[in-house]
Amino acid sequence: MSRIKKVEALEILDSRGNPTVATQVELEDGSLGIGYTPSGASAGEFEALEIHDGDTKRYDGKGVLRAVENVNSILAKEVVGLEADDLRVVDRKMIELDGTANKSKLGENAILSVSLAVAKAAAKSERLPLYHYLAKIAGTLDESGQFTLPIPMMNILNGGKHAVGSTDFQEFMIVPMKFESFKESVRAGVEVFHALHKILEERSYQPLVGDEGGFAPSLFSNEQAIELLTMAIKESGHRVGEDIFIALDPAASVFYYEDIYQLHRENRTFTSLELIDFYEVWTQKYPIISIEDPLAENDWDGFREITSRLRDKVSIIGDDLYATNKDRLKKGIDQKSSTGILIKPNQIGTLSETLETIMMAREAKMQYIISHRSGETEDSFIADLAVATGSGKVKTGAPCRGERTTKYNRLLWIEHELGSKAKMGTWQ
Ligand code: PGA
Ligand code: ZN
Repeated sequence: MSRIKKVEALEILDSRGNPTVATQVELEDGSLGIGYTPSGASAGEFEALEIHDGDTKRYDGKGVLRAVENVNSILAKEVVGLEADDLRVVDRKMIELDGTANKSKLGENAILSVSLAVAKAAAKSERLPLYHYLAKIAGTLDESGQFTLPIPMMNILNGGKHAVGSTDFQEFMIVPMKFESFKESVRAGVEVFHALHKILEERSYQPLVGDEGGFAPSLFSNEQAIELLTMAIKESGHRVGEDIFIALDPAASVFYYEDIYQLHRENRTFTSLELIDFYEVWTQKYPIISIEDPLAENDWDGFREITSRLRDKVSIIGDDLYATNKDRLKKGIDQKSSTGILIKPNQIGTLSETLETIMMAREAKMQYIISHRSGETEDSFIADLAVATGSGKVKTGAPCRGERTTKYNRLLWIEHELGSKAKMGTWQ
């Protein structure tokens, strides 16, 4: 194996045109890896912290030169010389150097970019495809040599913080589930996406897209979004609730103020229990397979209630609730707060910790969905991570905008490369 020789970070741009951190790691054998840090808009309270410069003369205060400097002058010194294949040692070193619970001293954006770059360089050094290398370090390699491709959860209608003026709920996703390959699942999803485009144009909505590439029409209710999705699935020639389902991410923390949920599009307020009733009615009317963050990140009682009521019918997924954090997931497992967890490496800040959280979910037989952020880069790391960990599900936006399609395209290549060793994930 090879040691880390050089670590160098740069301030680059994400898909919203905001600065973020990229780090290149070079090993002694010449292998290179670049790690990119994405960024959330509806970031949860319990996430590791991205640090921004706050210098309003540059990028309206959003510059990341301090985080870049933390990589170049603090982290680089300590990780150069370490074995790249020992990711846990590298990550532990960075966590110790930071010394805070949420990586607020050196910045999650600095630390994660190094962690991902080291893993990529190590995969190159071992001459393994990234997904294979990640499966090896995660301990998820299947003895049969098979790898599982994920069901794509495509966010084709954007609202909330990703498309102000659209719906209160953040994401309306389609889930092509009953297809034999990833390629066919993507094709079906894309056909629905284009059918929705046509429907919106016919109704004189401007076909504008939000942060995750989904359409962002100004609708009069949240329910109208589900109706449009149902219509688009039918129009595309696919079967609603048989081969294509609907998933929601209301991202409820964003519309929770002073102990009350406020839906502006419905002109209504809800208590936690009333909102659960509201979701229950929807699950009876529409082919909803999954609801992520139906309630706010601190509403543990609400999560337990909705999970006990709806779990036989719908997956309940915690995103902001867990923030990819093992301790919060442990609480969720103990309290039966959800059936699954959303996994976003930058919520916790190192790849090793991300893998630990995934392993905890696996052991508890919980679903885990590998996810992008609304502010992404052209990097496709999460595509490899989904295959490596056999998540069976991936959430990476609409099949539109390069930072989203790069993940879908990477998965198409992986499936092609694997040939008969690729199997399609199922919704479990
Ligand atoms: P974010 O949204 O990246 O803006 O947090 C994604 C999500 O909530 O799933
Ligand atoms: Zn979410």
